[in-house]
Amino acid sequence: MLSGLAKPLSVLLALAALARADNPINPGFPYGSEKVRGVNIGGWLVLEPWITPSMFDATGNSAIVDEWTFCLLQNRGTAQASLQNHWQTFYSESDFQQIAAAGLNHVRIPIGYWAFEVGPGEPFIQGQLPFLQDAIGWAGNNGLKVIVDLHGAPGSQNGFDNSGQRLSFPGWHSNATNVQRTDKIMMTIASMFANNPNVVSAIAPLNEPAGFDGDAVLDVVRQYWFDSYGNIRFPFGTSQESNTVVVLHDAFQPLSFWDGFMQPPMWQGVAMDTHQYQVFSDAQVAMSQQQHIQAACALGGELSSFDLWIIVGEWTLAITDCAESLNGRGIGSRFAGTFPGSTEVGSCSGLSGPASSFSSSYKTFLRQFYEAQITAYEEGSGWIMWLWKAQPGTADEWSYQMGLQNGWIPQSPTDRQFPNICN
Ligand SMILES: *[C@@H]1O[C@H](CO)[C@@H](O)[C@H](O)[C@H]1NC(C)=O
Repeated sequence: MLSGLAKPLSVLLALAALARADNPINPGFPYGSEKVRGVNIGGWLVLEPWITPSMFDATGNSAIVDEWTFCLLQNRGTAQASLQNHWQTFYSESDFQQIAAAGLNHVRIPIGYWAFEVGPGEPFIQGQLPFLQDAIGWAGNNGLKVIVDLHGAPGSQNGFDNSGQRLSFPGWHSNATNVQRTDKIMMTIASMFANNPNVVSAIAPLNEPAGFDGDAVLDVVRQYWFDSYGNIRFPFGTSQESNTVVVLHDAFQPLSFWDGFMQPPMWQGVAMDTHQYQVFSDAQVAMSQQQHIQAACALGGELSSFDLWIIVGEWTLAITDCAESLNGRGIGSRFAGTFPGSTEVGSCSGLSGPASSFSSSYKTFLRQFYEAQITAYEEGSGWIMWLWKAQPGTADEWSYQMGLQNGWIPQSPTDRQFPNICN
């Protein structure tokens, strides 16, 4: 199992194994026994056009499709002012108070590599890191655990706009400089939070690497997970272990692909993250409400038998891809038949947008879908919904906060109206 590892890590692992009998690792949250329940703080420190469409519309430039082009293709002072205003206003401690009051115990906070280091020729604007620090303070004040999630790596690990750079093919894995830069950033992040494991209980070293692009990606990802383990679990420059959990991502592979990966006792404090969406293919958006519920329930068995802590770190109550710009700015929706090559399933009206347009039967379905998903995901180690909030009125079906305000999400995740939904 150690072949392929850099020597220093293998030595550290051996020393740590010797020491562990006296000094077991002690994560800030009891991942094995208590369920993770949380929300993602999406579209804040990493822009996503569909979460804040007005920020993009205000540019008047349809070529601005991600944070890279947001910084590159408009006046830099304007971009800087818009970002600063967004960072200062989109979230405040009140959000974290509401999240805690809703019975949740985790927030996952996406951050881009460019908060830490911007390379020559890269247009990214910095200034978001102090807001990450603020958010960690708010989380601590309210008893919430934080997963710091590296959502964008140099070159882009998936080509998605939410990696910072929308590309037709990702450029991270094929460029050793990019991977080395990411390793260094992970060392920075790990040492920044190594002494605060009771709030920053976990670090996710890379969101959604594009495993669907094949073995060349997966080989790089696997090695990157090993290197990140070393960086996160041994941030002190000695054989002393941190208490910070390492949250891997399944890279869009079936969980069986990762069976046996990074198991205890040699590897400690490793969790797997899987993302479960039912809105990104023609077949999925054509499913009936009942089929969506059944598909969610069907995941429980696989989650319960997986051999690492397994968190469903992104999921949604949306059953359409109707939210404007969800598939990318300027790209339409499969459900509405405006996505290239798609056939209309139905009208988006009443299914996406403002909660005031949702019928009571649709809100009942959203409640059922919520209970079905958390029931299934709690057969694993728990869940973190995407997302706490978006620009109000644009994609309310995605928003935990809107669900609480409008009744399709209960005031505590243990309040169940449909306790047998998956039976
Ligand atoms: C690899 O990425 C770096 C930036 O991290 C860039 O300067 C370099 O040109 C890239 N190399 C290739 C071959 O694309």
